[in-house]
Amino acid sequence: MLVDVLYLIAAVCFIFALKGLSSPKSAFYGNCCGIAGIVLACAATYISLDISSIAFTLVAIAIGAGIGIYIAGNVSMMALPQLVAGFHSLVGLAAVLVAFAAYCAPGLFSIVGIHGICKSSLIEMGLGSAIGAVTFSGAVVAFLKLEGLYRGTAIPVFVNAVLLSLVLCLLTYFVATQSTIAFVILTLFSFIFGVTLIAPIGGADMPVIVSMLNSYSGWAASGIGFTLHSDLLIITGAIVGTSGAILSYIMCKSMNRSLLNVILASGQSGFDQESTDSLSKSFKNGSAEDIAFLLKNAESVIIVPGYGMATSQAQHALKEMSDILKKEGIEVRYAIHPVAGRMPGHMNVLLAEANVPYEDVCELDKINRDFASCDVAYVIGANDVTNPAAKHNPSSSIYGMQILEVEKAKTIVFLKRSMGTGYAGVDNELFYAQNTMMLLGDAKKTTEEVIKALQETV
Ligand code: TAP
Repeated sequence: MLVDVLYLIAAVCFIFALKGLSSPKSAFYGNCCGIAGIVLACAATYISLDISSIAFTLVAIAIGAGIGIYIAGNVSMMALPQLVAGFHSLVGLAAVLVAFAAYCAPGLFSIVGIHGICKSSLIEMGLGSAIGAVTFSGAVVAFLKLEGLYRGTAIPVFVNAVLLSLVLCLLTYFVATQSTIAFVILTLFSFIFGVTLIAPIGGADMPVIVSMLNSYSGWAASGIGFTLHSDLLIITGAIVGTSGAILSYIMCKSMNRSLLNVILASGQSGFDQESTDSLSKSFKNGSAEDIAFLLKNAESVIIVPGYGMATSQAQHALKEMSDILKKEGIEVRYAIHPVAGRMPGHMNVLLAEANVPYEDVCELDKINRDFASCDVAYVIGANDVTNPAAKHNPSSSIYGMQILEVEKAKTIVFLKRSMGTGYAGVDNELFYAQNTMMLLGDAKKTTEEVIKALQETV
């Protein structure tokens, strides 16, 4: 009874943790709720264990915690997506191992009926093992791609269709016969399916895939929760499963793509052929001094960070520049697009790392109406998320995606290295607009030059 109550409280803590993590302001409180939930869940598990297994469990937790602390302390912000992929692979593998443990010792899990293992438990362990195996191998492939160790392989859609059909047939046969060979082959085919499903997907679509694998790992855990009769695992697995699915949906919606489109690996980055003649068009190439002049004469500045800010790690220089402008009485805010960068919350994390105040960071819906009254839109390493083709060019691959309407600002400044395109491979007409000035070069370096020019003049 006590154990059930503790599990229930832990599950509620996890729900509050998710709620807290939905905003940077409450993220700390959300993390605390999550930690409290885990501590309660562990405590409840100890209470339910017999004394002899406690020492073994504590040693396992100490090793895991040590590895976790080491990784958390050493991972760079840019490597977070692959780290998450790596963690998902472990959840998938755990689901497979638990399913096999339950199959090999059903008595210990109280899942034996008159005719062998109960049918419902066979479904749970078959599904848990299959989803877990897909999650494991898929997450390993995602990790290798994000780490740049594997570029991917084109795999025809029919191969995946055949593999999926085989997995479903084997699952049905396993549930009907309880055959060990069917269970092993089902798991092996699921491992292969995970590889062939993720291998053809473009590297830049990996954040969506990582979030989708997160969802799979939740469902695998939930399925195993039924086998283990663990309400907590069922609830938390379902929370992870649904939140991962919702996040994948939000990302796809913000990119104006469907999840199926991402999974079938069509419409990937760099595949749009619109951007052929960007070099032949004329544009205004400014200097750091020109930009500093524009900034110090502005009343309101909106900074639009994108993937290039992340790669150049310009967030600290950006904060320094904002502080100088604020000291001069200039209003400075940051406009964040939901899919700026390459992972959800990418910009928010980097700006928080540079101690940019939360109240200066505005989401798309809130800030868009303010561009019309802003003097300078300072676009740093962002491209697609500002491209008006998304509004007026139905043939563009980004058509329909909401954008940050920087074109309404009095002056737009783009900091990037070249006139090249971004993730979607679409040329941005704003680079050639009358009220645009380009500052070409690495975003961190050019921002530092702007700071120097500002310091010399203010
Ligand atoms: P992009 O459209 O990819 O533009 C980034 C720009 O940064 C590029 O044009 C690049 O131009 C510039 N850049 C790269 N390195 C730089 C550096 N060191 N210094 C200065 N500039 C640099 O990025 P965005 O505007 O952030 O849009 C994000 C895109 O990614 C969207 O299309 C979105 O759909 C997609 N996407 C996002 C996510 C998530 S969850 N955020 C997931 C998957 C895909 P140069 O090469 O000329 O420098």
